[in-house]
Amino acid sequence: MAGALRDRVAVITGGAGGIGRATAVRFAEEGADIVIGDLAPGDETVALVEKAGRRAHYVRTDTTSEADCDALVAAAVAEFGRVDVGVASAGISSAATAAERQARVESDAGHVVNVSTDAFRRVMDVNVIGVLQTDRALARQMLAQGDGGSIINIASTAGKIPLAGASPYCVSKAGVWMLTKVMALELATTGIRVNAVGPGYTTTPMWDVPEDSPAHRQAMSITPMGRNGTPDEQAAACLFLASAESSFMTGQILHPAGGQFTD
Ligand SMILES: NC(=O)c1ccc[n+]([C@@H]2O[C@H](COP(=O)([O-])OP(=O)(O)OC[C@H]3O[C@@H](n4cnc5c(N)ncnc54)[C@H](O)[C@@H]3O)[C@@H](O)[C@H]2O)c1
Repeated sequence: MAGALRDRVAVITGGAGGIGRATAVRFAEEGADIVIGDLAPGDETVALVEKAGRRAHYVRTDTTSEADCDALVAAAVAEFGRVDVGVASAGISSAATAAERQARVESDAGHVVNVSTDAFRRVMDVNVIGVLQTDRALARQMLAQGDGGSIINIASTAGKIPLAGASPYCVSKAGVWMLTKVMALELATTGIRVNAVGPGYTTTPMWDVPEDSPAHRQAMSITPMGRNGTPDEQAAACLFLASAESSFMTGQILHPAGGQFTD
């Protein structure tokens, strides 16, 4: 697929981190210029994109702020003239650290009867409202351009598979998947395609649990291939959905997930 995104402009939220960064680099290798929106510094991703021979621009963005999402897309237009592709990869899990994840597996602290409403709301705010605001800013720009585009939301197999102790995350990712389908339907005649990638367990800062931990063993018990995925494997799915190779696909989800059963 060399050159599959030649001279396209892609906006990627969460582009400072695991899957978003890998996607930024892969898109750049295929010819795209990249705008990264993230709370975390984007210098490393910018350097990797430039090493791949393309232009990169970082905008500090909190996707829970509608103004930030609008400003991110405006910055892409100011910098590179237009937006062809958007990837909403910014997200958080219910538990911030590996130690908290471990505790969640070993106790019922994360169960619905115990989880705090504030913790639940925070995950919904980033994972659902953040994606909504990102998608909307992207779609409005693409509608103004009038020649279509591709929006890719990073959901999760957890949006289809209930995981005890992870209700905020599971509910939020089910929301991302439904948002994807509704937007795809609403935009179907405009040439703007909206699809999702629903990763399984993938080695990134979000999923950095040791191989000898109960959390890893639990994850592998529902992953037939018996290993974590890589950010590059998720980026490859994003590339397919971003490119013309998927031109008749909208409202769909791809699961690079090592064989997890999601239906
Ligand atoms: N790693 C996995 O196993 C896995 C599995 C399924 C789905 N996912 C999803 O993939 C996406 C990317 O996750 P990752 O694994 O690359 O994790 P990551 O933590 O490496 O990357 C997430 C990025 O999002 C950014 N971010 C978080 N909140 C933000 C906000 N409010 N505004 C802007 N940026 C924000 C972080 O700074 C980080 O750079 C997430 O939506 C995640 O839920 C990951």
